[in-house]
Amino acid sequence: MAQMHTKTTVAEATTQTPAGITATTISVEQKKPLAPLAATVPPTPKETTPETTAAAMPVTYQIVEHDADVRKLIDHANRNLGVVGYTEHGLRHVTLVARIARNVVRILGYDEHTQELTAIAGILHDIGNVVNRRGHPNSGAVMSMPILQRLGMPMDDIAIVMGAIGSHGDDGGGLAEPVHAVCAALIVADKSDVHRSRVRNPDASTYDAHDRVNYAVVSSFLRVDADEKTITLELTIDTAISSVMDYFEIFLPRMLQSKRATEFLGCRFHIEINGNTIL
Ligand SMILES: [Fe+2]
Repeated sequence: MAQMHTKTTVAEATTQTPAGITATTISVEQKKPLAPLAATVPPTPKETTPETTAAAMPVTYQIVEHDADVRKLIDHANRNLGVVGYTEHGLRHVTLVARIARNVVRILGYDEHTQELTAIAGILHDIGNVVNRRGHPNSGAVMSMPILQRLGMPMDDIAIVMGAIGSHGDDGGGLAEPVHAVCAALIVADKSDVHRSRVRNPDASTYDAHDRVNYAVVSSFLRVDADEKTITLELTIDTAISSVMDYFEIFLPRMLQSKRATEFLGCRFHIEINGNTIL
């Protein structure tokens, strides 16, 4: 076997002390010879699956939820809506919607990547209210793009989150139009958050119809049954405060949106109020 020639490399540094004495010399000897460049076999490309994509995804729900700018936008959106008389749309609402929406796709068997994108759409879905209630899905979708780009999300994923936020429904007369499962789950989760804790008006004598119906709801639960392919909104309403009819009168558009989104997910939508199946 041929003897490999070992070349010694010496690096030297000389420093000038304050006293003007040239003093220090550092020598470094290279112990190992450089390995010769050898042709290597390139690794076999791995198939991209939802699992590998999820594993590589750098932007998680946790990162988005704890982003300082996102928190500020959520707070300002909630504040602005409060000024014009809307119910609570703050961190409580958007974290709850994110959790419920994630559970919807998780229980229905969607992969982890879809679950994560759904939760991210949930936490961001109402930031457009910083601009105005009307058109907030559109403004929120557009606003989410630079945030997610800054955090390093791939554009394919950003596009899905934007589509979900932009089509989650509006109070300006338009109904939600699910464009994919992430969007459909967001719609069902958002419309299911009806609860007395959302009422901000401290004076019950001046409640409007929305306040009264929200205040009457003492518990709400969205039950997803993957085997039966049903999604059921289970509500407990204090009928001394608001009648079941009031609920339907106020929330009919929401119910239609939930039904449409549920059907998009391949399920049937039901409403159960005080233990009775209404729909
Ligand atoms: Fe919402």
